[in-house]
Amino acid sequence: MDPEAFVAQLDAENRALLEKLGAKSQAGEAPGSLSVKQLLKLALRNELEASELAALWMADTKELDAKLALARQCGDEAKHYRWIEERLRALGEDLSSFDPAAQGDSPLLKHLKGLKGTVERAAAGQFTREAIAVVRNDVFARFCEEKGDAETASLYRDKIQPDEQHHHELGRKLLLRYATSDELQAKARAAARRTLEVAEEVQEMARMKMGVCRAPGC
Ligand SMILES: [Fe+2]
Ligand SMILES: [Fe+2]
Repeated sequence: MDPEAFVAQLDAENRALLEKLGAKSQAGEAPGSLSVKQLLKLALRNELEASELAALWMADTKELDAKLALARQCGDEAKHYRWIEERLRALGEDLSSFDPAAQGDSPLLKHLKGLKGTVERAAAGQFTREAIAVVRNDVFARFCEEKGDAETASLYRDKIQPDEQHHHELGRKLLLRYATSDELQAKARAAARRTLEVAEEVQEMARMKMGVCRAPGC
């Protein structure tokens, strides 16, 4: 399959699964005790992991365009971390003893860290994970509005989301350029599928164990 047809197919397959993931994130009533602050603290962990992963991948990526895309993403995710931290402080949260890495690598980070090669990584880490972020951030922004927190909703809609969309598009560009053989396309598809599966498992586990839903992505 030529890369254009492959990326269009992967996009369509992802869309169907992303819709399910988004629907599950906003399913049912959110527990009354669930707060914007609690979800923002989970977002800090996601942003840190996304930044760290991009740095890790950048170091052993050979293709210059992919390397620079990862460098930009690393900086963007770090910037998101600071914006969210700023917002939490404005909401009165004391983060002086907060360690976003206290629980170790999330299952999603563990999965992504295991991927080798630009095609697999672009498919999973950028094209898919960033699409997940866009869907979940949208659900989260709506939750913020329902809670009367227009400022956090606007931070996500106007500042964070354009970056996440850009990261997703970077993944698309890299796939169009490098997913040129059946073998690479099969690897890309498998890495993308697994990313969505892990994201769904983590999301459902958080709902069952902690009553967490509507959480943002990275
Ligand atoms: Fe991102
Ligand atoms: Fe981010």
